[in-house]
Amino acid sequence: MKFRLYRASILHFPKPTISPDTGFDFHRDGLLVTRNGKIADIGPYSELISLYQGCDLTDYRGNLLVPGLIDSHVHLPQTEMIGSYGEQLLQWLESYTFPTEAKFENADYAKEIASIFLNQLFMNGTTSAMVYTSVHKNAAEMLFEEASEKNANMIIGKVCMDRNCPENLQDSASTAQTESAELIEKWHGKQRLSYALTPRFAPTSSDAQLAALGELAKQYPDVFIQTHLSENKSEINWVKKLFPKFEHYLDVYDHFNMVHQRSVFGHCLHLDSHEWCLLKERKSTIAFCPSSNLFLGSGLFDMEKAMQHEVKLSLATDVGAGTSFNMLRTMGEAYKVCQLNHTRLSPMQGFYMMTQGSAESLGLSESIGNLNIGTDADFVLLNPKFSTLSELRTQNCFDGKLVVDPIDTIFALCTLADERTTSATYVAGKCVYQQEA
Ligand code: GUN
Ligand code: ZN
Repeated sequence: MKFRLYRASILHFPKPTISPDTGFDFHRDGLLVTRNGKIADIGPYSELISLYQGCDLTDYRGNLLVPGLIDSHVHLPQTEMIGSYGEQLLQWLESYTFPTEAKFENADYAKEIASIFLNQLFMNGTTSAMVYTSVHKNAAEMLFEEASEKNANMIIGKVCMDRNCPENLQDSASTAQTESAELIEKWHGKQRLSYALTPRFAPTSSDAQLAALGELAKQYPDVFIQTHLSENKSEINWVKKLFPKFEHYLDVYDHFNMVHQRSVFGHCLHLDSHEWCLLKERKSTIAFCPSSNLFLGSGLFDMEKAMQHEVKLSLATDVGAGTSFNMLRTMGEAYKVCQLNHTRLSPMQGFYMMTQGSAESLGLSESIGNLNIGTDADFVLLNPKFSTLSELRTQNCFDGKLVVDPIDTIFALCTLADERTTSATYVAGKCVYQQEA
């Protein structure tokens, strides 16, 4: 296979760091080289180009080339109900989410939305995601198939729920276990795909179902777990009533063997100190979903507490409670949440949480989240000058065609980015999205 060359300003975190403000690599005039779907070389254009004479080169100068972005918590079935009016979590689930998710019983519909969903990710520069599908096994299959065709790194789970939701959306303890196991056997570890056991949240699973999924977690220790934790105060009170014997919300998941280093808990807005400590002890990850938390009025994530407790963090859209598929835009919302808490999220801290930091949290940084040689060639070309306003805002970030201030460029995009920002998205070395000229 041939080398392929991409010239652009290049930004990434080559290593895990506790200091994202300084721990990044930046090449003003950089060259990225791919071969066989992997990154083969990276560095300054002037130093590398002589080694690759005669190879295909795409000139993306004017763009910032960054690792494919990672969205660690997103709901495929909620694509079409994004921005649904007027409710907080529990009523929002009843009024909008459950009726929409019921449509996924229809395989044709599930296939259509899986394709739209994946395209939404790619056109916003997201190449990896941790995805909740619906309760229907077939809907998870559809997304696995679409992601497999694109050779994308996706972590996908069939939602499990056997109570406190409409009957047509209920599985059972035993079907949740068998269907999840069948999906694991078929897809987990195939190409770049992984499975996530997905009890929706404690209120919609019986003890028997949580126990069945906990058994699977033991049986398949490298399978991920994703669920919701401590998002909304009414939800937390409900969990207390449903599980009176447990010390706190996280204790419910812990009792059923679901709190480990491959567990990703969405939200975590109202944790008590025992929960913070347990998350740290078990090396679990929090998915911080700022646009969702603001949209549903759920609360403000306490970034400072998360840092104090050294809990692993990632950033996520949580579409359709989240209001955009765009991770940069989502980081802009995270910045506002931190402002309301009188803390500061720096541009590089935010960027870290959707690239290397997120990959590291999920144990995937050998293959995604950075542009190191040997990793999978998932990368995105961001055009800071995609609109009149963004051109004006970022004019001082450029010297001629080249980005010279990546930090302010990233920060400007947090406010302004949308799908027009993405010039192109590559997955395993192949272009999966190219903006029309
Ligand atoms: N808690 C349980 N289910 C959901 C969901 O679909 N979205 C959000 N934001 N929270 C949940
Ligand atoms: Zn969610």
